Amino acid sequence: MPKNWKIKENVEDVTFQEDVKVLDNFIPDSISKEIQDYAFNKAEWQYTNQSEGQDKSLHWGSNIVAYPNPTEELTFDEYTELGKKDWAQTISKCPAIGEYWKFLKKYSPVKRYLPDTPSRGLLNCSTGGHGDISHLDHSDNLYVVTHILYLNDDLDIDDGGQTEFYTRDRSEIVGSISPKLGRVVILDARIPHAGKAPWPHYTGRRITLGIQCYLQDGKGNPIKLKHSNKTSFNMLKRNRVMQSLDFKPESWIGKFGIPNNIVSELIETTDKTLLEKKQRWGDNLAGRLKEEWLIHKKDVKETSLKFLMGCVHEYLYKENRGNPVTAKITSMWLNEMKENEYNPLHQHDQHLSAVFYLKVPELEDRVTKKEGIQRDGYIEFVYSKHDRKVIKPVVGDLYIFPADLPHCVYPFRGKGVRRSVSFNVLWESNNE
Ligand SMILES: [Fe+2]
Ligand SMILES: [Fe+2]
Repeated sequence: MPKNWKIKENVEDVTFQEDVKVLDNFIPDSISKEIQDYAFNKAEWQYTNQSEGQDKSLHWGSNIVAYPNPTEELTFDEYTELGKKDWAQTISKCPAIGEYWKFLKKYSPVKRYLPDTPSRGLLNCSTGGHGDISHLDHSDNLYVVTHILYLNDDLDIDDGGQTEFYTRDRSEIVGSISPKLGRVVILDARIPHAGKAPWPHYTGRRITLGIQCYLQDGKGNPIKLKHSNKTSFNMLKRNRVMQSLDFKPESWIGKFGIPNNIVSELIETTDKTLLEKKQRWGDNLAGRLKEEWLIHKKDVKETSLKFLMGCVHEYLYKENRGNPVTAKITSMWLNEMKENEYNPLHQHDQHLSAVFYLKVPELEDRVTKKEGIQRDGYIEFVYSKHDRKVIKPVVGDLYIFPADLPHCVYPFRGKGVRRSVSFNVLWESNNE
């Protein structure tokens, strides 16, 4: 069993050798594997910066506790409340994370100081060439400890992705720890560190679970240090809308949720398009559909357009690493799909494409025994011959993807229509 944790009052006394602990074969395999499964297959992600307000530190994060940054400045108590809610939600989605924390509370060297609910927690994900930069996890004069759980079993030493630790002035590297499934690293949050990006050749995702907490005294109050480190948790006002995403380093699909009022607006707009039948668009498209109509930009309400462009910019925020872009919708069209109609495998010819759903028919179940999944009326994205993603159309769901990512829509049987709107986008970076 690891030795007890020593809390150091002076930041000058904190060292990599003494205040960073590596625990291998410590937590049960079943816990790390379950968290790994959640992180790689179920978690929803946002692309954002996570540390000290540094806009260069862009990577993917999936909220575990009170993180990504709350959209408003919060008091300590409000922040704690938010943390409790998030934690409960996280545990309901991935019970293994709760078990992991309980395990640490029982056996880790920090055990006697750990609170029931961590103060911050985030799944961090970086891809080849896109990583974190040096930062502190510290919070003013509260004593914070960070726990990193590595979730990759596919990162070699030559793939990069190590966690690096630095001197206080960040001029030298004092230590480097490689990711390994189930490895837990515990550190005094005053030590500058960074989860370095894997090398660009690495096509997977480097994912860690980072959990921080304010250590507490015997009475359950957070331990206060006499000296403040003058860095604080960064509560940036950011309210991005990207909900989740499929990670294919070359072909990202961003998923967004359209609010109900905008869905209603868009239904109104498209009802009008269908009634007026101004410009048939089917000749420009792959679909075997009778009703495909161009939607004129001036017919789309400003609120809808603003929302859609917000999603496009959110997607491009990642694509262009936070640098400003100019983007425009070049065409938008309506697909009113009825029983037995379909859209064969095709690509679009601009930079980005998007699709969102406004009506969904009653889809008859035609799952075959061999496949075990529903395809009727679903859209399927084809990354490669062994890698495809089939997505159920849900009213209000919006997907943005690279225009050259092949996709198709399967026919369906049943009552009702499947109304989707697609649009293409051209964009360029303002920096060039
Ligand atoms: Fe960190
Ligand atoms: Fe398409």
